[in-house]
Amino acid sequence: MNEPIISVDNIHKSYLMGKDAVPALRGVSLDIQQGDFVCLMGPSGSGKTTLLNIIGGLDEPSRGHIVIGGENLVALSEDELARLRLHQMGFIFQNYNLLANFTAFENVEAPMVLARVGRKERKERSTALLEKVGLGDRGHHYPSELSGGQQQRVAIARALANDPPILIGDEMTGDLDSETGFAIMRLIQELNEDGMTIVFVTHDPRMATFAGKVVNLRDGKLLNELPADEISQMEMVAHDS
Ligand SMILES: Nc1ncnc2c1ncn2[C@@H]1O[C@H](COP(=O)(O)OP(=O)(O)OP(=O)(O)O)[C@@H](O)[C@H]1O
Ligand SMILES: [Mg+2]
Repeated sequence: MNEPIISVDNIHKSYLMGKDAVPALRGVSLDIQQGDFVCLMGPSGSGKTTLLNIIGGLDEPSRGHIVIGGENLVALSEDELARLRLHQMGFIFQNYNLLANFTAFENVEAPMVLARVGRKERKERSTALLEKVGLGDRGHHYPSELSGGQQQRVAIARALANDPPILIGDEMTGDLDSETGFAIMRLIQELNEDGMTIVFVTHDPRMATFAGKVVNLRDGKLLNELPADEISQMEMVAHDS
């Protein structure tokens, strides 16, 4: 077996609310191989976003280890973490998170500016990426002049700007009608077929069918790691409410 591209080892995460520690993750371990297409599912509050943000180096665990491409995230400085995020991962969010005062082209170009890519190469790559997501003719539009699906395509092109091996998506089709959502998932599927490792969260079982592997979270733990009696108790609570 090859070294996993993402290795999550016994991650715990608690958030402080006043004096109380709210547990969001309670010992999650997960290996993801290069080229995997992984979907995280689970009820609201089960820890999906927390796990995704820790994998993406946007949040740090309270306990446990996370290794991405051989680098131990917990040991990295802020600068090193920022460099890893810039080159190793692309992020896609539910609300697109585009810069409103930048055109589609400038949004795609932005991560390349941060990575100090030269102007000529930026222009060529931004143009090619917008064409890849089917928006070759929309580069000069601002986000407010684009539909939700088009904005998410710009966000995908931006996520690909520095050619990262990993793509991370949190509810990336959550604000889109199902047809547009499927089109976005087909685009993501093509990226996976080209070798990208994809980790995404969805509430929608239809979107989960695109993944090669579905990982279920309940109450801050992976479902397959929970004792059976705890699962059946939770299912009963879920049915009662
Ligand atoms: N910044 C924070 N401060 C305090 N508690 C937090 C914070 N972020 C998350 N939590 C708590 O951690 C738990 C897991 O939250 P998380 O956002 O990971 O859930 P989720 O599975 O993504 O839910 P949803 O499907 O609603 O997006 C929840 O109990 C939540 O209240
Ligand atoms: Mg969430």
